Amino acid sequence: MFASAFFIYTMHLSSLKLTSFRNFETLKLTPSAGINVLHGKNGSGKSNLLEAIFVLCLGRSQRSNKDSDIIKHERESYRVEGVIHDDGRSIELAVAVMRRGRKQITINGVKSKASELYEKFSVVAAGPEDSEILAGPPSVRRLFLDLYISQQSIKYLENITKYSRILSQKNAALKENIEFDSFNFLLAETGARIIIARQQFLETLNKSAGSFYSKFSKNGQLDMKYKPSALEEIEIKVDESRIREQFEVKLNQVKEREIILKSSIVGPHRDEIEFNINSFPARTHGSQGEWRSAAIALKLSVYQLLKEKRGFSPILLLDEIFAELDEHRSAAVIDSFNDLGQLFLTTALEPPAQLAEKALNLKIDSGQVEAVR
Ligand SMILES: Nc1ncnc2c1ncn2[C@@H]1O[C@H](COP(=O)(O)OP(=O)(O)O)[C@@H](O)[C@H]1O
Ligand SMILES: [Mg+2]
Repeated sequence: MFASAFFIYTMHLSSLKLTSFRNFETLKLTPSAGINVLHGKNGSGKSNLLEAIFVLCLGRSQRSNKDSDIIKHERESYRVEGVIHDDGRSIELAVAVMRRGRKQITINGVKSKASELYEKFSVVAAGPEDSEILAGPPSVRRLFLDLYISQQSIKYLENITKYSRILSQKNAALKENIEFDSFNFLLAETGARIIIARQQFLETLNKSAGSFYSKFSKNGQLDMKYKPSALEEIEIKVDESRIREQFEVKLNQVKEREIILKSSIVGPHRDEIEFNINSFPARTHGSQGEWRSAAIALKLSVYQLLKEKRGFSPILLLDEIFAELDEHRSAAVIDSFNDLGQLFLTTALEPPAQLAEKALNLKIDSGQVEAVR
């Protein structure tokens, strides 16, 4: 390929080193900038390896909120290191966590904040646990929103960080029976920004995820609707001051109940997304296969959205996406793989031949990885 002014440099991971990360004692890997297929038995560490890449890119896991879960049993710390190439530069990254310590992130050897990772890099992960986005508790859907909206707007990341800090202060005030009006004012201000960002994100996603889903499911229908707990649905207008006012009105309405319950009952920390598959609520009427297809449709749409917003292809991590999709659906997914940046894909089954011939094939067995062919 000729380099030209129009060549879009793909961000990619060129080396990875793990120490005491889940089932890996030590692991060194030199991935391809294109497709990487990780093939291995159940329990060999495929999902853990994808998680490590996610942690390196954003400083947190996509599936666990507790860093200490990730540290290898009986070890005191984990460390993920790697080099990411980005627009011609290579950036050395490291994320390390001590069992009884803080997380340390370094970029080119300089101590850095997670927000700096969000600013520089982007990663999208899809896997079996994503069915929970359709069928699990609301907190899973909010984590989905937060992880991916933060990658398109650092302001959003700042707002959710600020919001949760104010929320804990308000909850502390409720527990101690002291005045909390000033916190309500701040919650409405920050919350309104979060609500707008979520609304816009889901509106865009709704269109593209719907079209991916109909491809994966022989014309099935997927749609989603944002249900902000602070507002009546009819009132949603993308106007920050109006949303803030309505949120404040709602906070006043529930004030007495919050005092009795000693907890904060409305706001973005209680938001919901309603997913429908073929016009029925996905959570109660969907099948496993439908949830899996819908989740993959969602994640591939997020990928496209981020690619457009950021101007480069995020690293894409696809965990066992063939396991629960039938042949027709798998073929549709593979079809959508043209025009990708770097991809890591795991499979316990033989990888589809049309993929394996384009890929760096890695065999993974009890915490060890080797290249095959
Ligand atoms: N913190 C940890 N320390 C040691 N082993 C762990 C830790 N967390 C998970 N594991 C082990 O990792 C293995 C599963 O790896 P996983 O990546 O889920 O496998 P795969 O995706 O290939 O099926 C399991 O044997 C599990 O017990
Ligand atoms: Mg797995």
